[in-house]
Amino acid sequence: MTNFLSLADVTDLDALIQSGRDAKANPFADQHLGKNKTIGLLFFNSSLRTRLSTQKAAQNLGMQTMVMNVGQDSWGLEMEEGVLMNGDKAEHVREAAAVIGRYCDIIGIRAFAGLQDRMSDYQEQVMHQFAKYAKVPIVNLESATRHPLQSLADCITIEEAKLTARPKVVLTWLPHFKPLPQAVANSFSEWMNARANAGKVDFVITNPEGYDLAPEFVGNARIIHNRDEAFAGADFIYGKNWSSYEQYGQVLTQDPSWAVTMDDMQRTNNGKFMHCLPVRRNLKVSDAVLDSPQSLVIEQAANREWSAQAVLKEILTGFNV
Ligand code: CP
Repeated sequence: MTNFLSLADVTDLDALIQSGRDAKANPFADQHLGKNKTIGLLFFNSSLRTRLSTQKAAQNLGMQTMVMNVGQDSWGLEMEEGVLMNGDKAEHVREAAAVIGRYCDIIGIRAFAGLQDRMSDYQEQVMHQFAKYAKVPIVNLESATRHPLQSLADCITIEEAKLTARPKVVLTWLPHFKPLPQAVANSFSEWMNARANAGKVDFVITNPEGYDLAPEFVGNARIIHNRDEAFAGADFIYGKNWSSYEQYGQVLTQDPSWAVTMDDMQRTNNGKFMHCLPVRRNLKVSDAVLDSPQSLVIEQAANREWSAQAVLKEILTGFNV
């Protein structure tokens, strides 16, 4: 593995999931791999889990870590080529990425969608500009369209908690008053479709009309707009809000009946509730669900450490062959 930008960078998903589970069982077994290596973590947006879990994973592997909030701790970065830089961006990504690449052996980047221009967001300019100019491996810490470290942690969590060989996994849209990116939902769909194609899950998406994800992320998943029908017999309910892809970045409804309650969970096969966090209690999901034994959200967040460790281990192993 060179970069970890999306599922396309994974050659063996089963092996990567197992690597995460091995790291969880024995966190310090590969400390030698990261000796004298440094990871730089660049955040264009806020984070709790990604920021801490990726640092912890790197430290478990013996790496040094540096963290920077881009635009707050550093100069604002210009991503466009050939522009007259007479605005508020004082440094171009060409120099910034090249310089950071001299200090760091791996760079992790978080840069959310702007939700103004679909084509621009879906081109993933920040990730590709850094990959082009840094000349070291780039790890996606949540980009405009994907959150693959989250998706890997989700796969690990489902593997740990499943009670049947091919569980029914339902991605359900949740209400929110703010327009949020599609990245987590896109990525979860992408990874669940891969698991479905391997016969490991039955994957269903349920969302209100107008909220279908981009076709390349929906893939072969069944979209069932009738939420009760979708929830019936589910082993895992994965909740997430996202803004409309079709009417890009817009909030089309805040229908509170899409929030997950214990009544909804009763329709499942004693299913587990998952959410990537942060979550707004009682807006998206009830206290009762989050505080019930059916909630996996804390274990899911804990598994972020092991998903990051599996990815960093694979990149570091490539340095040492
Ligand atoms: N799930 C997730 O990425 O959490 P943070 O935004 O806190 O990093």
